[in-house]
Amino acid sequence: MQWIIRFSGFVSAALVMIVLAPSLQSFHPAEAIRSHSHSHSHIDGRFRHRTSSFRRASEFRNAAGCVPVQHSGDVCDPAQVHVALTLDFEYLRGSIAAVHSILQHASCPESVFFHFLVSDTNLKTLVSQTFPKLKFKLYYFDPEIVRKLISTSVRQALEQPLNYARNYIADMLEPCVRRVIYLDSDLVVVDDVAKLWGTSLGEKTIGAPEYCHANFTKYFTGGFWSNRQYSGIFNGRNACYFNTGVMVIDLEKWREFGYTKRIEKWMEIQKNERIYELGSLPPFLLVFAGHVAPIDHGWNQHGLGGDNVKGSCRDLHPGPVSLLHWSGSGKPWLRLDSKQPCPLDALWSPYDLYKQPL
Ligand SMILES: *[C@@H]1O[C@H](CO)[C@@H](O)[C@H](O)[C@H]1NC(C)=O
Repeated sequence: MQWIIRFSGFVSAALVMIVLAPSLQSFHPAEAIRSHSHSHSHIDGRFRHRTSSFRRASEFRNAAGCVPVQHSGDVCDPAQVHVALTLDFEYLRGSIAAVHSILQHASCPESVFFHFLVSDTNLKTLVSQTFPKLKFKLYYFDPEIVRKLISTSVRQALEQPLNYARNYIADMLEPCVRRVIYLDSDLVVVDDVAKLWGTSLGEKTIGAPEYCHANFTKYFTGGFWSNRQYSGIFNGRNACYFNTGVMVIDLEKWREFGYTKRIEKWMEIQKNERIYELGSLPPFLLVFAGHVAPIDHGWNQHGLGGDNVKGSCRDLHPGPVSLLHWSGSGKPWLRLDSKQPCPLDALWSPYDLYKQPL
């Protein structure tokens, strides 16, 4: 069964590639880059899923040669790959597809432990019904933690507090979890997640694909750049843009160096004076840009969300593809439902487990 799914996924991917091949072109990274996944435009389109609204995924088994998990269900078992995602009603369909994609492409899917950061309760049943053997844990993330830190202007009030949950992973997860892969909810993994897990971070606390050709200036305001005390933070750092939707995080170092507090400090400054445009990304850039272990760009083929308003579709960046990321304002499930998909949205569909209401 599994090979059929894989094979059909591969065939549809291959077909799309063939169809698209003539139009594949490179474009300037700065244009392609849209910072974070949880955009502000779909709040009104929020819809509630009932537990019956997802199909059950087929079972996934470890291949021969996987390090056996000793204590099944034990989060501290050392032989596991840890993945953290947020889970909320708005992006639920995306998160479920992301999990499904990871399981389908992992050689050792039973060795992946999922950590779900939630602000809504009641999602546990849905997860275990959709993925009966999944090893996972839910963590409640209190939105008030963030509401205190973001100013209450109308636009910012629309921001999803869960966008900021990635800043609190190190505090929320058990101390025995020493490394985690953080993933946004609008992506699918099309390679073995163990390869990403095995990335060397060297002395660095986080790893992510870096984009040194992107215009770094635009993420911060003129006021920020003219204040030497602030902008001096980047002196001697060779700061490059990176997307916070795919990160490998050394949680021990994060805890040791207190990065949560460092990020919060910048958010407090932002609350009083505008040093960047809104988003959860800039404080990460302030703290980590220039101190990021580079990861192959194939692990974040981002920008596929394009722009819903303009109806623009994006192509893949040149090079290998291990992860497809629909960052930007368009989401594949919304475009597919409205029968106006972008060509690459067909690469997301094989992982969709949502049952359309009859
Ligand atoms: C980078 O962005 C800033 C601010 O938006 C702009 O003023 C500047 O011209 C841009 N630089 C390049 C090389 O595009």
